[in-house]
Amino acid sequence: MKSHYSALNASPSTTILDLGSLNRGGDNWSQIILVPVELDETNHVFGYYFLNNQKFPTDGQKNLVELSGSPIKVELANLNVFTGPILPKLQINYISSLFNLAESIDQCDRSHHSHDTGMWVERIAKRIGNPDLDVFKLGVAGRLHDIGKSVVSKDMLIKPGPLNEKEWKIMHQHPEFSVALMEPAIALETILPIVKWHHEWFNGDGYPDGIKGEEIPIGARILSVVDAYTTMTNGRAYRSPITKEDALQEIQKYSGRQFDPEIVDIMVDLVLFEY
Ligand SMILES: [Fe+2]
Ligand SMILES: [Fe+2]
Repeated sequence: MKSHYSALNASPSTTILDLGSLNRGGDNWSQIILVPVELDETNHVFGYYFLNNQKFPTDGQKNLVELSGSPIKVELANLNVFTGPILPKLQINYISSLFNLAESIDQCDRSHHSHDTGMWVERIAKRIGNPDLDVFKLGVAGRLHDIGKSVVSKDMLIKPGPLNEKEWKIMHQHPEFSVALMEPAIALETILPIVKWHHEWFNGDGYPDGIKGEEIPIGARILSVVDAYTTMTNGRAYRSPITKEDALQEIQKYSGRQFDPEIVDIMVDLVLFEY
């Protein structure tokens, strides 16, 4: 079952499907997320990797389609759809689809959040200089940490006001959605805990598990500080950026509560004296 998908969409960054063609036998197909993977680079043949996670929002697939902003629909009959382990030679293609997804989210909320987060996480990891910290992998965690937002509705991503209780409940699951999307990629296995716990607080008040202090992996503690900094200094579609000095002040205010004080000190030093 081959499809020359590139003729329809040169960039396989997100999944475009005729949802009607997937709706069979009353199954809840809307919880299935399909990640496009390039199967044959020379002939530009694309396939889709199936992810069926009961935790995804019921309209997760629709949200992913919406996020792409593309009007193209492709019939299931023309697709290569596969499940199970991803072949080693396709692993890298799968990961590159996840990077494209991160870029789509950045474009959606008009920020450079994923890109800048990856960059600052690497800078901090380099400064710490611990040989156990894999700077490259931490950078990847920074780039991919929010891809779970692709299954959260676009309206919620760019909502100008505060989210209501129901919306927060979905949004608070985005670290776990990110992990679900990354799990099929064997090379990303070691960074899953970093992504899963990037919203944990140093004092245990965070989510999803309320772990605290050094129970939180150091990579996640770095990502947490950087995430807050880039969120404030980049701004969003609905919120203006603030200065780096104001952002640092805000992070220092939460040092020891939300953030690991040692990482806060490093971040402040790097921003003020090196970049
Ligand atoms: Fe996040
Ligand atoms: Fe983030």
